[in-house]
Amino acid sequence: MKFFVDTAEVSEIRELHEIGLLDGVTTNPSLVAKSGRDFKEVVKEICEILPGMPVSAEVAATDYDGMMAEGKVLAALADNVVVKVPLTLDGLKACKHLTDQGIKVNVTLCFSANQALLAAKCGATYISPFIGRLDDLNLDGMELIGDIRVIYDNYGFETEILAASIRSANHVSQAALAGADVSTIPPAVLKKLASHALTDKGLDAFVKDWKATGQSIV
Ligand code: G3P
Repeated sequence: MKFFVDTAEVSEIRELHEIGLLDGVTTNPSLVAKSGRDFKEVVKEICEILPGMPVSAEVAATDYDGMMAEGKVLAALADNVVVKVPLTLDGLKACKHLTDQGIKVNVTLCFSANQALLAAKCGATYISPFIGRLDDLNLDGMELIGDIRVIYDNYGFETEILAASIRSANHVSQAALAGADVSTIPPAVLKKLASHALTDKGLDAFVKDWKATGQSIV
């Protein structure tokens, strides 16, 4: 499974990339607003940190012409920009036409299998089902990931399933089990994936026992 980090905070992206965990980045208007940075500047900076890795940047327009105009500007910022459009009829049309022009598109705000089917038919590179927001409504976000996996496999669609709105470590493993191609994960959740109480306990014991030997390795 590929890991994208879901943030517009450059310091967090650098830190996780240095560990070697990242395959890409997703941003959205809310995350850009939270960063307080200029949108285009921050996208360019992220693209430079992760050359060749996909970096999703979302259009602000909601009409087809506006999305096309903004999508082209965003795609010109760097080779690795993926233009993110909302799952509306205008967004699907923009997805189709941007894709036809060789621009990669991430269709976001997906909440149903039918929406995911339409995005694949319009050539989306990624479909972003929002797991956490479905769970918030007492629905089953993970079931949606599984349904999309079956539909895409039934018809050989190459659109990658990008599990989004991930809120917990369990969401990541469940999305992997359900067959998502990618999870986009908030930095704090990504770091939590490494932790386990028994790892900490076992390491404490090893450190204590090693000290008792009085030896050093270097
Ligand atoms: O990738 C989309 C994600 O950022 C939305 O997450 O937690 O706002 O539902 P959330």
